[in-house]
Amino acid sequence: MSEQLNKFSRTLTQEVTNPAAKAMLYGVGLTKEDMQKAQVGIASTGYEGNTCNMHLNGLSVHVKKGIQENGMVGLIFHTIGVSDGMTNGNDGMSYSLPSRDLIADSIENVVCGQWYDGVIAVVGCDKNMPGAMIALARLNRPGMLVYGGTIRTGEYKGQKLDIISAFEALGKKFAGTISDEDYEGVIQNAIPGAGACGGMYTANTMASSMEAMGLTLPNSSTYPATHEGKKAECIAIGAAMKILLEKNICPRDIMTRKAFENAMTLVMALGGSTNAVLHYLAIARAADVEFTLKDIQDISDRTPLIADLKPSGKYYMEDVLAIGGVPAIMKYLYKQGLLHGDCMTVTGKTIAENLADAPDLNFDTQKIIFPLSTPLKPTGHLQVMYGNLATMGALAKITGKEGERFEGMAKVCDREEEVIEYIAKGEIKEGHVIVIRNEGPKGGPGMPEMLKPTSAVMGAGLGNKVAMITDGRFSGGTHGFVVGHVTPEAYMGGTIALVKDGDKITIDAVNNVLHLHVSDEELAERRKEWKQPEPAFKKGTLGKYIRNVKSASEGCVTDEA
Ligand code: FES
Repeated sequence: MSEQLNKFSRTLTQEVTNPAAKAMLYGVGLTKEDMQKAQVGIASTGYEGNTCNMHLNGLSVHVKKGIQENGMVGLIFHTIGVSDGMTNGNDGMSYSLPSRDLIADSIENVVCGQWYDGVIAVVGCDKNMPGAMIALARLNRPGMLVYGGTIRTGEYKGQKLDIISAFEALGKKFAGTISDEDYEGVIQNAIPGAGACGGMYTANTMASSMEAMGLTLPNSSTYPATHEGKKAECIAIGAAMKILLEKNICPRDIMTRKAFENAMTLVMALGGSTNAVLHYLAIARAADVEFTLKDIQDISDRTPLIADLKPSGKYYMEDVLAIGGVPAIMKYLYKQGLLHGDCMTVTGKTIAENLADAPDLNFDTQKIIFPLSTPLKPTGHLQVMYGNLATMGALAKITGKEGERFEGMAKVCDREEEVIEYIAKGEIKEGHVIVIRNEGPKGGPGMPEMLKPTSAVMGAGLGNKVAMITDGRFSGGTHGFVVGHVTPEAYMGGTIALVKDGDKITIDAVNNVLHLHVSDEELAERRKEWKQPEPAFKKGTLGKYIRNVKSASEGCVTDEA
């Protein structure tokens, strides 16, 4: 065994000054021969309580098998994980985004503290992937990710269902357009088993883009959770990990500026989640790569939206398998000059080399991916906006189906829950711009997702008749005319804190402007009356988060001064 392969773990296994550590390793079952081997930490975000993560501990066992078969020691450990589908309202959702940084911290903590030579993260839900990517970037020890895989669709009365169907059923209930029996039927059948939410929502967005970044084996984002290919991928990780260790290929060799461009290009082409912006800003900062909101807008400007995937389109991630998977989509984008082919990946080969054997998209037979010549939208759907309502930026998701400009009257909600109340009372009407504030990284805290309000709006049939702006986030499942990540947030005295019912607001997705039609003088008067709210938490994990978190335009990182 070359010293390169076990350069960290040898501190425990080779140095005479660490007899206790060595004794413990014998205690967990390692042999004398194992003491010479590289040690790979396998970080699983698995736990039983939700479908996105319920199978990850099982996948980790296959990963461990592949590691052992390739002459290394694999040791499974666990991090926390929160499923966004279950973080109900602010009380739960406040913990979601902070979980990303806790995952990063915990992987960093174990891998450094236990002297692992490499790390493999087995991840499944929205925050697991960026959390693990941040950890890999910080650690810069050979490593990669395995995606738990997308979920299969559910079915009720011949209709395909997913998690968003459950949320939208609530809106239909408010609107009186669904029977109690069908409401229960949708809820009971929406989720058929293990896997991450099945559209191009945040988990599948992060999974496909981290594959484009070169941090997973090819097809990791394509295989559904219950597909045989997922198990085979886990076992194949061992051979790839050995190459990474032997060649000392580290995450920062992969996570280059060009690789971030590749990741975000895929997000744009596939119509991915707004959350990807927040996460890639944070991951880039962890990797010390210069990658800003402006870079993201530039990529959006040059990348057409070509995927007819949910939430705004028709198809699910499971359907992508049949058309050649994510490698086929990447190959098409690469051939068309939209992806950099010379980026290193965890296979030890470049993107171009990995794609050489990938299948080609067949535009005669498949209808999920459109040709670049006839895209669904000529530019990306994610638009960075500025204006007096968002002097440090905001993020809109405009797929083109909603139109590109919305002008309306503000209906202010000081909390997410108020939207549901107003919808139930019929107070949200066509032409309203629903302003949901005090939901930012510090004010929320934790920048909760407005999944319930957006789904309820859709379900109530208000879809493209209203717009929504917030200093919180939107779920990857969101569609409609929505602008989130408004920065500065209300808690920090951003203009969003000063909006009143009836104010006119323009959302201009052509010129990327978010404007409140209130004079500077009037805003200055209103500001005199504004007082920063008391923090919702002063202690505990959220107290720490409120003190440390940066703005959404800075990726909500928590480890910078
Ligand atoms: Fe976990 Fe959607 S809530 S992937």
